Amino acid sequence: MNLQRSRTVYRALLVVASAAVVIAVIFAVLDRGAVAVAMFALAILAGIACAHFRLRLVLAAVHERSESTISRNRTILEERLQPFEARAAASMQFENDIREVIGRMDGMLVGLGSHSEVLRGIRRDTSRVTGFAEGQERELSSLNGKIASLADRNAQLRSALDETSRVARENLERIPQAVEQYRAMQARLVGDSIAMPPIGGWAMTASSLTEIVARVLDAEKHPNVLELGSGISTVWTSLALEHRGGGTVVSLEHEQQFLGDTASSLRAYGSSKRVRLIHAPLKRLELGGEEFAWYDIGRIPHDLKFDLLVVDGPPGAAGALTRYPALPMLADRLNPGALILLDDTIRPEERRTIDRWSKEFDGVVLERRLDKATMLRWNAATS
Ligand SMILES: C[S@@+](CC[C@H](N)C(=O)[O-])C[C@H]1O[C@@H](n2cnc3c(N)ncnc32)[C@H](O)[C@@H]1O
Repeated sequence: MNLQRSRTVYRALLVVASAAVVIAVIFAVLDRGAVAVAMFALAILAGIACAHFRLRLVLAAVHERSESTISRNRTILEERLQPFEARAAASMQFENDIREVIGRMDGMLVGLGSHSEVLRGIRRDTSRVTGFAEGQERELSSLNGKIASLADRNAQLRSALDETSRVARENLERIPQAVEQYRAMQARLVGDSIAMPPIGGWAMTASSLTEIVARVLDAEKHPNVLELGSGISTVWTSLALEHRGGGTVVSLEHEQQFLGDTASSLRAYGSSKRVRLIHAPLKRLELGGEEFAWYDIGRIPHDLKFDLLVVDGPPGAAGALTRYPALPMLADRLNPGALILLDDTIRPEERRTIDRWSKEFDGVVLERRLDKATMLRWNAATS
């Protein structure tokens, strides 16, 4: 039932209830009790129905008011929500934008990952190239070192060559004089009819040999000679001692074969009497931290001191500064004023030997330079 009809029924019921009350009063006054009661009952029923419809109308009015209030409130809420919705939409747009940027950055990161792999490869290659370059540099510097040492060696050889050719020139000029000296020596030692032992090759030169002979012959007393490296020089020295009538030559030889050759030559000239030919193998010697292969000198007679030390061995092939140990090892076996003849001082190693002796021993002074050898004097008093 709609609202209008309810209102009409309500009004009709109100009229009915009112009329029934009036009629019931009239019949009550008229003392018509039964009708009055019936009318009152009708009035009550009509009143209840009336109250029912009245309640429905009130509820409908309340409903209607509520509906309008709700609708108003919704409108207000919608109006208020609008800015929030706009902001939410903007936020969503912003979020989408950020997601898009993140997506793009992810792509860039993947790209960067492959770039960094490439970079790592480049770094590996670079370090390999650097290692190779360093190796090349080391090799270059070692080559430079070798070139420098070759240049040094070259300079040494050049100066040795210069010295050799200077000596050769001087020797050529000296040949007539040397022949003369040789003849004089021959006449003095063995007479005109016998030749002196041959010189040349590995033997000392005529000037060294005649110097040794002259020193032996001119010595104040019968001299003792110590020779390192035997050969023709041993024969010449022994002949000089024979002529002088005294003195001894002790000759050390490390090679058994050359020892035998020297012994045969001495026998051939009948001059073994004043010679002590000793086999002295080369053995390892340590001197001030340096190592040498040098003679075993244990068999040199202990009672002898020497006036002349002839250093013509070991051969240069036995190592660097092969003859250097002679003075450190034998200085205490030399008489004051003794002479030291070092052969082959045209070679760099023997020149270095002289330099070291001069620096290390105060008592060493230069006596005389010969064509291929150097004579020094040992002043033990100042050593
Ligand atoms: C320069 S030689 C000594 C020569 C000796 N003082 C002389 O004037 O006859 C040094 C050493 O070389 C060795 N030697 C000697 N004659 C040699 C030769 N013909 N060939 C190779 N080595 C030789 C010997 O061991 C000798 O002690």
